Parts: sequence; C-alpha cells; structure tokens
Amino acid sequence: MDTIGVGLIGCGTVGQGVVSLMLERRDRLSRKVAAGIELRHVIDKDLRARRDVDIPKGMLSDDLACLLKDDQTRIAIELVGGTTVAKDIVLQCLEAGKDVVTANKALLAHHGRELYAAARRAGRCIAFEASCGGGIPLVESIRRGLIANEVQALYGIVNGTCNYILTQMVAGGKTYASALADAKAKGYAEADETLDVSGADSAHKLAILAGIAFGIDVDFDRITVEGIQAIDLTDLKAGQELGYVCKLLAIGQRRKNNTFSLRVHPAFIRRSHPLANVNRSFNAVSVYGDAVGHTLFYGRGAGRMPTASAVVADVVDVAIGNAGRTFEQLRLLNDVCEPVAYMPIEDVEKRYYFRLMVPDRPGVFARIAHVFGAHDISLSAINQHEPEASAESESVPVVVTTHVAREGNVRQALAEVSSLGVVTCPPVCIRVVEEHEEF
Ligand code: HSE
Repeated sequence: MDTIGVGLIGCGTVGQGVVSLMLERRDRLSRKVAAGIELRHVIDKDLRARRDVDIPKGMLSDDLACLLKDDQTRIAIELVGGTTVAKDIVLQCLEAGKDVVTANKALLAHHGRELYAAARRAGRCIAFEASCGGGIPLVESIRRGLIANEVQALYGIVNGTCNYILTQMVAGGKTYASALADAKAKGYAEADETLDVSGADSAHKLAILAGIAFGIDVDFDRITVEGIQAIDLTDLKAGQELGYVCKLLAIGQRRKNNTFSLRVHPAFIRRSHPLANVNRSFNAVSVYGDAVGHTLFYGRGAGRMPTASAVVADVVDVAIGNAGRTFEQLRLLNDVCEPVAYMPIEDVEKRYYFRLMVPDRPGVFARIAHVFGAHDISLSAINQHEPEASAESESVPVVVTTHVAREGNVRQALAEVSSLGVVTCPPVCIRVVEEHEEF
C-alpha cells in the first residue's frame, strides 16, 4: 500500500492536537488503517510559538510552498481559521492537487459554494467533519446515516463556549466574564471570542448542518442570529423558577410549502427537553427525520483533542477514498443544491418569556397587559416577587410568559410597551422552545 502524505497548515490549539494524534499516537492509525498515513509538513506563520508537541526538525516551516510542491503530500489540513487567508490557502491546495480537510466553519458557511465548485473542477474533495460539533461524528451521521430521510427539523447546542458560560453562570456561580475567561483558557473559544458569544459561530455551523440535512444551498445571510451577550443571571434564575433551562440553540425547520426557518438565539427549554442536560462544553444536536424519527448526537463540541479527533477521522476518510466518493456522489453541498425560500422570523410562532422592569404602583401592569392583548398575545403566567423589605429600587421585575404568539406581533407589542413610559429599561425577551413533535 502507498503511504499518503499529509500537510497541516495552522498549528494552534487544534493543530497541536492533530500533531499529537498523527505523530505521538501514530501506532493506533497504523493498526487500524491499511494505507500508510504520514504527517510530512506543519506550516505555521509563527515558527517560535511555544507548543506542547514536538515537531521533528525539517517538518515545521512558514512556507506553504513546501507543502504545495511536495507530490507525496496528497492531503492538506487547513486549521488557519478566518475567511480570507484561509480561503486563499484552500484554493491553492486544491489547485496543487491536494484534497482538503478543514475545521473552518466560517469559511464554509460564507464561501462553501465557491470552494466546493473549485474542488470539483480540480477533481479533489473537501472534508469538514471537524467544522461542526467538535468530536461528534455529526456530518457523517447526518449526511450518510440519515440520507433516506426527509429531515423535518434540527435543534442543536453547537457552541461549546456559550454552553460552558451558561452552565457556569447557573451551576458554577460564575459571572459571565469569568466563565468566558475560563472557556478561553480551556481552548474552547475562537481566536475572536465575539464569534462565539454573538451566535455567529453557531450560525456558521447551522448553515453547514442545515445544508446537508435538508439538501439545500443555505444563504448564510438569511439566518436570524442572536447571541448570549445580553443574558442576565436574573433571567436564568427566573427561568429556573418556571422549570426552564437557558441554552443557545441553532434551529433549522422545514416549514409549509418547503420554506425553511433557520435561526440561532438563546431559548428557554423545559428541564425534560432532550437538550436540557447538555452542559459545559458539550454539544448535542437533535435531528428529526420522517423515517427515523428523533435522533440525538452528543459529545464534546470544542477543545483541542475532540476537534483533532474529527480532523484525523477526515484524514483517514480521504486516504481510504470514502471522502472523495461522498463528495462527488452525494448531492448535498451548496454548489449542487438549490437555493430555497425562507420563512421570515416575524411569521414564526412560539411562546415567549419577558422580564419588564416597572414601578410598583397601581395601573402599570394593566396598561402593559392591554398592549399585549391588542396584539393578539395571550399571557400564560405573570409573576412579581414581593419586594425585599429593605429594597429601595424604583422598579421591580415582572416576569411574563405567553401562549403561542406570532413573533411579528411580539416585536410590535414590546416596542409599544417600551414607549408607554412605564418600563425603566428595555424589556428582556427570551423565546421558549418546546420539544419538537416526532412525526
Ligand atoms: N469556539 C467553538 C465552540 C469551537 O466554542 O464551540 C468549536 O467549533
């Protein structure tokens, strides 16, 4: 059997995990895989960075050309991140005849169509298991394992950093800032952590997962995205009192007339919901197929070794020829799928949680309730705690949950409530997401 050469570009957190699996723990691959797989190049712009793995002399370089011109290197792993330099590197690798393995969800969400087409022109493939859900074999399971289904919906916790922060704020007693610092130290967060907390990273993953699950050419700009930056411990605790857990969810739903609703936002889910006990950096994705029903994929969604595990799985998949056949024969990637119509977020119907800060005096709530009623929003529960005897605050929190309402009506009602002159700060609104019905 030939030995297949591999080159790694970008030796940061995940890159070092890949080096560890491909050099220090090389024996396990040679026991399990007939083809020889050999790491030949590690390309990184910073040759002096302190690394936790030993890279043999001559393997580390800051010159991509070393990899590109080496005919024995047939697989390039892109772990540079970002959407500019990384895009250029992937195109150069494809043109030089290399298959590409990448964990770069932002790159595929924004430029997938162009890159997949370039790979097809070059007769090569792009494998991207590590782009979604860290170490969970999610892409492979959805794309091949569920191919007989028309997927109805997927619900995912797909950002380890946000899930870690939300878990640590409630169970670990940490502030948002210290939980985020911890997630960074553990290697979960992106180089630019705003991608995590703004929901953008989850949206990148949703674009990829919804694409292969529904077989559609997702337009990233049509995904509604809200992050966790404004989430307050007051709301997490109020939600707990009502029996809810707060999670940043990535949601894809097939709606009427083959329109799609794609969105990322914080959501209250019941404690009995299948995703409610997914904590810390773990990720989980529920996929509902019309034949299989509910499937749930769970595992570590971020961090060095879980993500490296998925990268190396892709390297093997490319080396043994699976990835190439999958890439060529399944019609599930942006460049060979049709664009679709999207359901506007205003038309989506669900339940809501609001927290309104209002003065504790007669008639205030009656005015607010009138606005909700006028917008066809039926209230399900209203809760105002007795103020502490010592409290001198000018306003008190009133927590409201609704029955199912149309988002457009909710937005209009909240804008009107804000203009009444009785709420002392902008209302907090968190969507309530119920468990999806199986069939
Ligand atoms: N920053 C990402 C996360 C890493 O926290 O989930 C894995 O994609």
